[in-house]
Amino acid sequence: MDLKGKKILLGITGSIAAYKAVFLLRLLVREGAEVKVILTPFADRFVTKGTLAALSTFPVLSEFFKEDGTWNSHVDMGNWADLFLIAPVTAATMAKMAIGQADNLLIATYLAAKCPVVFAPAMDLDMFKHPATQKNISILQSYGNILIEPASGELASGLVGKGRLEEPEVILQKIIPVLFPEKKNLNPGVSL
Ligand SMILES: Cc1cc2nc3c(=O)[nH]c(=O)nc-3n(C[C@H](O)[C@H](O)[C@H](O)COP(=O)(O)O)c2cc1C
Repeated sequence: MDLKGKKILLGITGSIAAYKAVFLLRLLVREGAEVKVILTPFADRFVTKGTLAALSTFPVLSEFFKEDGTWNSHVDMGNWADLFLIAPVTAATMAKMAIGQADNLLIATYLAAKCPVVFAPAMDLDMFKHPATQKNISILQSYGNILIEPASGELASGLVGKGRLEEPEVILQKIIPVLFPEKKNLNPGVSL
């Protein structure tokens, strides 16, 4: 799929599945998209900014303020993107998105974004099943955000169930109708 000319903001949060976002980034760039990466402050425990910056070719952002006192503009980034893809998204970040708690750059950018937002959760099966998580997912869908359901299978915890981040190739296929809405009508708030 030719993604030339498409601008994608890739949000990565503090999930063990964050390593898969590196492959996802590589895939999106290979397909021709311009991809900028925003991490939550916790996510760099799981993936390095250096790896992401090398693959993205743009600086990787995670803090509001830079060392020199200037700041990264969540509004500019929210306006820049054709799509904000948050993969993986943790239970914690979904909860903040649901209530608009903009205490990090990723959430502030989410609130400022004018483009479609696709979110792909990843977590332990019981975290995913919890009514709080399910309620937050419903709230996010009711705002028009688009869910990529996690897959079932073996989880990092060793348990088996629903909670695995979808594979990068599957995520790529699922965002195509969002990036090219002229090719397919989408109802806001749907699952992909
Ligand atoms: C090793 C490890 C793996 C984790 N994996 C997940 C995960 O897959 N999904 C999730 O929702 N939380 C996971 N957590 C918990 C989150 O990292 C924690 O809730 C954190 O506050 C999330 O912050 P963020 O959403 O701002 O990145 C994990 C924690 C640890 C220590």
